[in-house]
Amino acid sequence: MVAVARHRADTADDHNEQRTPTASSTIDPIGGHRAAAGPEGLSVWATAQATGPVQRRGRYVRESVQHPARMLPAIAAHAVTAYTRPGDLVLDPMCGIGTTLVEAIHAGRDAIGVEYESRWSDIADANIKHAHTQGATGRAGVIRGDATSILSLVPAALAGQVALVVTSPPYGPTVHGLVRPGTDGVAKFDNAYNDGTDRGNLAYRDLTGLADGFAQILTGCHTLLHPGGVVVVTARPWRKHGELVDLPSAVIGAGIRAGLTPVDRCVALLAAVRDGGLVARPSFFQLQAVRKARAAGTPMHLIAHEDVLVFSKSQTDSGSGSLKDTLGGGMVA
Ligand SMILES: C[S@@+](CC[C@H](N)C(=O)[O-])C[C@H]1O[C@@H](n2cnc3c(N)ncnc32)[C@H](O)[C@@H]1O
Repeated sequence: MVAVARHRADTADDHNEQRTPTASSTIDPIGGHRAAAGPEGLSVWATAQATGPVQRRGRYVRESVQHPARMLPAIAAHAVTAYTRPGDLVLDPMCGIGTTLVEAIHAGRDAIGVEYESRWSDIADANIKHAHTQGATGRAGVIRGDATSILSLVPAALAGQVALVVTSPPYGPTVHGLVRPGTDGVAKFDNAYNDGTDRGNLAYRDLTGLADGFAQILTGCHTLLHPGGVVVVTARPWRKHGELVDLPSAVIGAGIRAGLTPVDRCVALLAAVRDGGLVARPSFFQLQAVRKARAAGTPMHLIAHEDVLVFSKSQTDSGSGSLKDTLGGGMVA
């Protein structure tokens, strides 16, 4: 039996959920399913009861599909509802096309994002505008810039104001992207963050460089978080030349270096829970890679989850002092 967290996108007729006596049901705009959430939650998040395209359809602008590594909206939505209250401020320092921001403002939270590539921050802007036409009540803004210097990008007044950081580091310079038939079989497109000439994007660093840059970003986030604030980092298992890259350990190390405490490790499902089993939705390239590996005797499985690393800032830590230090005392409102 598979016990999963009752995410808002769970199906009503799912017999495997763990219910709590206080659970209440709602209709979820992302999955269109009846759902309930208990106060304590579970470490397995059923975040793919609907496919990515179904979760995004009508809720995100069409151009969003061009981003090579978008977060499933239900993952961001689950993190927001699990760790914040209406009116709280949510931050994504590597916000891509703005999934975290869109889900936060739909849930009545405010949100701020930073994105290195203007190509993606423009789409994030469009997604926020679109969410407001659909009744999202929260306020949101996106800053284009390098989040390793996040404290020089955001207003100083935000120090100690953020309740939750939800983010996902880039994993490798290229990802699966989309495919179209070409003369030599299939051709990939929309599979990179930029044209590869700008190395400021952490996607173009090796694992050590990525972890160092991510630690810098989380250090800035630590200052922006209020005491007891939470950081949720999702990392999809990633293989390079067929070998698993230990991104989750690098993320945990980066969080500790940033002064955060690792408090939980969850799993966000990329497969649907149906009739007591998991229904995977692999991409063409994932299937191809796993089939090849297994044919060659390597016992590889299809990836059906993302790791979710959860950190918190100590209740007794204040944030504004270190922002002042970082900015040399020249605080701007
Ligand atoms: C895995 S993607 C995040 C996708 C996002 N969660 C979404 O749903 O669209 C990582 C993002 O980090 C951005 N990025 C890379 N280096 C950065 C940096 N130094 N500062 C800010 N953003 C950066 C990339 O351009 C990419 O859009």
